[in-house]
Amino acid sequence: MRRSLVLAVVALAAGCNVAEAHRPIVLRFSHVVAVDTPKGQAAEYFKKRAEDLTRGRVRVEIYPNSTLYNDREELEALQLGAVEMLAPSLSNFGALATEFEVFDLPFIFDDYVELRKVTDGPIGARLLGLLESKGIRGLAYWDNGFKSFSANQLLRRVEDLRGLRMRIQPSKVLDAQMRAVGALPCVLSFAEVREALQAGVVDGTENPISNFYTQRMHEVQKHLWLTRHGYLGYAVIVNKRFWEGLPGDVRRELEEAMREATEYANRIAKEKNDADLAKVEAAATTEVYRPTREERLALRRALVPVHQQCEDRIGKALLQDIYRTTSFDRGAP
Ligand code: LMR
Repeated sequence: MRRSLVLAVVALAAGCNVAEAHRPIVLRFSHVVAVDTPKGQAAEYFKKRAEDLTRGRVRVEIYPNSTLYNDREELEALQLGAVEMLAPSLSNFGALATEFEVFDLPFIFDDYVELRKVTDGPIGARLLGLLESKGIRGLAYWDNGFKSFSANQLLRRVEDLRGLRMRIQPSKVLDAQMRAVGALPCVLSFAEVREALQAGVVDGTENPISNFYTQRMHEVQKHLWLTRHGYLGYAVIVNKRFWEGLPGDVRRELEEAMREATEYANRIAKEKNDADLAKVEAAATTEVYRPTREERLALRRALVPVHQQCEDRIGKALLQDIYRTTSFDRGAP
């Protein structure tokens, strides 16, 4: 008997029709950035590996660029089962567990190596574990990069930020960060940012260069100050009920696809941000300013008090754990 016929007989015997027996499991993966970003590319990579490894038993549908849900809506959509997978930026998780806002603290990570010590170790696992009671399983951390400030006004010194209306993600730490330099924080979802900048609803923003370039913010921001004052990355998450309901072999194959996609994401993130910076400079619509060591230290001095201000919210023990892991020193010059 041909294999498809055998399947049909088995399926009918099990009381379901052939179409259902062949129907793949659909995994909807929604995100808010362009396809040509670290997250967008890693999502495509995951799709390919997931469909290959499961030999078509899983079909991954990707909805980029907030086409399905924006960042204000997507967590609830996941919890309700309207999508199965997301990779929101870590700044969106404070609404579920304030501990996640630790990633928003200015200057807490100098580079990807320090960050990785946290996300790949017990602290990273413990944080993802906090999502379980919310019906969410955390699978991985994906990088984007380090944020820089941009505005239409000249940005060279801390004082230049004073009085500017700056778009932020929905995080109390980012709110405190902007207030610490006398700016006025304004929460907007990512899909609204470019238009708000163009219309002058806000004066500036902060983002890794890959987001800045792929949203064409360089066309509506005259100044980019390469401060690299904070980190922006993602937690890849799934609806827990969906994940636990998968056949064991399928789940293991998807875990492998996620492991490979994570390695890929974290390999390309820096390259993409560097390449996009070169494109911003080539477009010559934005003046890119690299602060001197002294100028960057002055910004650090202005922003580090935010750590103490937010430590009760984040948890002192967690913060100390991270300081120990990365050798961060609040008192450094
Ligand atoms: C933002 O809102 O600026 C970012 O979180 C967008 C993203 O997902 O990278």
